[in-house]
Amino acid sequence: MKKITKICCIGAGYVGGPTMSVIAKQCPEIQVTVVDINQDRIDQWNTDDLDQLPIYEPGLKEIVGERRGKNLFFSTEVDKAIDEAQMIFISVNTPTKTYGKGKGQAADLKFIELCARNIAKVAKDDKIVVEKSTLPVRTAQAIQNILDNTGNSVKFEILSNPEFLAEGTAIEDLVHADRVLIGGNDTPSGQAAKDALSAVYEHWLPKERILQTNVWSSELSKLVANAFLAQRVSSINTISALCEKTDANIQEISRAIGFDSRIGPKFLNASVGFGGSCFQKDILNLVYIARSYGLNEVADYWEQVIIANDYQKSRFAENIISKLYNTISGKKIVIYGWAFKKDTNDTRESAAIAVADALLEERAEIIVYDPKVSEERIYADLDYLNTRSPEENRRLLKVTNKPIEVTKDAHAIAILTEWDEFKTYDWEKIHQQMLKPAFVFDGRRLLDTDTMKGIGFNYYKIGQS
Ligand code: NAD
Ligand code: UGA
Repeated sequence: MKKITKICCIGAGYVGGPTMSVIAKQCPEIQVTVVDINQDRIDQWNTDDLDQLPIYEPGLKEIVGERRGKNLFFSTEVDKAIDEAQMIFISVNTPTKTYGKGKGQAADLKFIELCARNIAKVAKDDKIVVEKSTLPVRTAQAIQNILDNTGNSVKFEILSNPEFLAEGTAIEDLVHADRVLIGGNDTPSGQAAKDALSAVYEHWLPKERILQTNVWSSELSKLVANAFLAQRVSSINTISALCEKTDANIQEISRAIGFDSRIGPKFLNASVGFGGSCFQKDILNLVYIARSYGLNEVADYWEQVIIANDYQKSRFAENIISKLYNTISGKKIVIYGWAFKKDTNDTRESAAIAVADALLEERAEIIVYDPKVSEERIYADLDYLNTRSPEENRRLLKVTNKPIEVTKDAHAIAILTEWDEFKTYDWEKIHQQMLKPAFVFDGRRLLDTDTMKGIGFNYYKIGQS
């Protein structure tokens, strides 16, 4: 089996950065180089101030501080890193296509293809190429075709090794992974490649948690895992709507059904809707693949998970409007939380974007506070929707770093991310300075109902009447 001493990872994003940092920490004898075409991002990874890394993840800056410059490097010298490595991870973005065939559903594989062509151009000796990005089933075939036609007799072995980390807990998820999935060919060289990658993970994970499959099962398992997780959230969210009509309590239902060991307790927290860069993208991709094979019933089934999620976001916004006497024009509404979940600065597909957009359509005056998301990011998210002009977004929505002060004379607060600090706020003081009746719409079920109602708030919690 080929001994791996040098790894290159193309793509220094939310997956490439943390994943390679953990590999570098656990495998001190392997040199890990993370490359990206984005100079700013690489500069941020190389910053002296570890609080300024491009990605916020608990535990990440400690590992980067420990390994960077020793066996962990961040660079824009893509070709050099490819040339030197025996194993190359592709961890670039695979967003939903915004043009052409499959627009709005299929994964855009142009960044993957560019990587494959680059590897084909640069490689002078045999390489193991690892798909770390989430890809449609059978993508490895396309990568293999590109690599096999280089004409320089270099041999490439393609593996699928999808990543299952969740943002906010990336380091924990990587260090204590439930499982690692490695898909590869059943040929002797395919098996050797799978074993070489397995040996990397065996530095810190028990062998029985490293699963080997064929390439196609591995690629498809990743989409299916995300679809199942998102389906649980949509399932519980649809029931939250029913709870609000029937005096049932969604938390009690989650607990009651989660005690059934066949169902289990995780991923049953009702919320304002799931966000994140992948759930929606990967389900849309699954839907597209199913439809492209003529499996319309399969596609319709999974599409419903997205439809239910969109319903949850708009239902939340509509509830705010109706409870504020059907008019929010000129009313000051403070939004607590913009990230798609706590402990991350990532806002991709965050429910907060959709809710804010719906409230802005009704001409509310919005003030946003998020402990980790920049003002620039918040405006970029809104501008991207193209619902109104950038000037209007900036006129109607302000961003603050003074979460308590801004509640003065506010009509309502909407909690859209479950940041722990919101629980520690002086809600008595907030209530005193808000206009009365003072409304709190809790899209994350973060606060205690009795306490909030006791203070005098008109308090609405997802999944509870
Ligand atoms: P990201 O956008 O944070 O990072 C991707 C990086 O790749 C960017 O910095 C970009 O500049 C770089 N890049 C693009 N083309 C390149 C090229 N040709 N050469 C060099 N660099 C290039 O994306 P991400 O969130 O890290 O996701 C990457 C993949 O991992 C996606 O397929 C995603 O579905 C999957 N994934 C993401 C998560 C997550 O939590 N974000 C979890 C599991 C899997
Ligand atoms: C998810 C998966 O959990 C990871 O396994 C996967 O690797 C990743 O997608 C990916 O492929 O990108 P992530 O999106 O980072 O990870 O975060 P999750 O914890 O799964 O949360 C996703 C969304 O669902 C968040 O908006 C979260 O608030 C919401 N959620 C989650 C709920 O509303 N309720 C829950 O019970 C759980």
